[in-house]
Amino acid sequence: GGFALSANASTETASRSADDSLVFDPEGYTQLTATVTDTDGTEHEVKYRFWKAITYVSKPVDEKYQSLNVSVPVEIDGKAVDVSNAPILFANTVGGYLPSTVTEATGVGASGLPVGGGGGAPAGGGTTSAGPAPSASSSAPGANENTNANGGALNTNQYLALGAGYVVVEPGARGRTLKDSSGEYYGTAPAVIVDLKAAVRYVRANKGRIPGNVDRIVSAGTSAGGAVSALLGASGDSKIYDKYLKEIGAADASDAIFATGAWCPITDLEHADGAYEWNWGTNKLKAGDQVDQTVSKALQAQFAEYQASLKLKGLNRFGLLTARNYDEYLVKQYLEPSATKYLTALPDSDRETYLAKNTFITWSGGKATFSWADFLTHVGARKKTVPAFDAFDLSAGENNEFGAGTTESRHFTAYSAKNDSTGLNSKRVASDIPEKLNLLNPMFHLERRNPGRSKHWWIRLGTNDTDTSHVVSANLAAAAKGLGDEVNHLYYWDQGHGANTDPGDFITWIAKVTG
Ligand code: DHB
Repeated sequence: GGFALSANASTETASRSADDSLVFDPEGYTQLTATVTDTDGTEHEVKYRFWKAITYVSKPVDEKYQSLNVSVPVEIDGKAVDVSNAPILFANTVGGYLPSTVTEATGVGASGLPVGGGGGAPAGGGTTSAGPAPSASSSAPGANENTNANGGALNTNQYLALGAGYVVVEPGARGRTLKDSSGEYYGTAPAVIVDLKAAVRYVRANKGRIPGNVDRIVSAGTSAGGAVSALLGASGDSKIYDKYLKEIGAADASDAIFATGAWCPITDLEHADGAYEWNWGTNKLKAGDQVDQTVSKALQAQFAEYQASLKLKGLNRFGLLTARNYDEYLVKQYLEPSATKYLTALPDSDRETYLAKNTFITWSGGKATFSWADFLTHVGARKKTVPAFDAFDLSAGENNEFGAGTTESRHFTAYSAKNDSTGLNSKRVASDIPEKLNLLNPMFHLERRNPGRSKHWWIRLGTNDTDTSHVVSANLAAAAKGLGDEVNHLYYWDQGHGANTDPGDFITWIAKVTG
């Protein structure tokens, strides 16, 4: 990789230190117009300044990914916008732990993939729009795609934020499939979080030059992007990333963020196989097949041990969360309120139709009640086989995320290493894996009460999402709440992977917590 300063050589003096390349140029924008449709259907014309493909580190490994875009509203419906104290939405574009790039974007909404309803790439730098509540992709990206399958959900947040007068920063980041000419993987763990932290540091180091309030950064992301958003929130200013940040020439500044938005975070990966079986163990695969119940039961036992070790209390004075009571907790804290909210919003006749089709729900006094077993039946097919994340045959995307050197995919749990089916000599995880797991896990930082963490959490998950266990989000919420943080966590009824059905509420929440 080269140095980032060459692109600006014509406007700057020739000899500059590496760090000078990390100075934001307030004049380096183009002006664009976007039509933002609010969630109530109102259209707003937003004139905004767009800074494109700014390399955010002084020693980039791959500038295609280690660069960010900035969008700053200057006029909304003809009225000037004062962004001097505006929150900054830091919307990552990560999906599938794959590489994500914003360098091709022609305007706000970096990934530019029109997945779902609203999020579309602006045509020729022209008009963009955000429809109300698009449901994003339901399929995990293929192994070698470097695009973001969650574009719809992500873009909606960006457009609405711009329309609300916020600054929007969209960083790219290295991802698991990147391989150099000598066959070395350079985007596997912890590259994604190191890059996002470097991007936050770039923003904070440019306080006074970059528009908006750099002490009010609100991170957002979906799925793997939700995982790294949560990680960014939990790990603020942690020292364990220092050597990696130094290597790529990250700016010398805080990487703590103010608030965290995470949709369907695919995180706590080393415990996700057990959590998945605890949740979906008896649900059949789409093909109607039951997964190996011996393996499923062994993993469930591991989950019980892990959950007990967390000593987390449920929200609303539920008490200690265990593998024995977590079903009751999910039903009472999240699932019944989710169904109740959904059914309450329906016109009477639609609600009656829904209840007639879904007789497992008891509707009484304006509230939905049902059993966990019936809920599992209602969701139906599980998406993933067993183990869901550390596959015995190394075929999961997460195996690739923990690849290193010239090895594409590796085991990251003792159980799957022991049960490896690919003929590996070693039946153990490699010696560097424990450190990589910590670097990638928000729970690691929350368990250690990291003082630099974000103190505000917006967490969302579709009730039909079987990409991971429902306990992953709930544990994240319980851990943050247990530290005294403000937590806003809801499940979207009958929604699948990547859903974002209350984006307007997220924008309002940002105003509330940052104000
Ligand atoms: C994503 C989905 C998955 O099922 C997974 O294991 C990792 C990432 C995603 O959509 O980003």
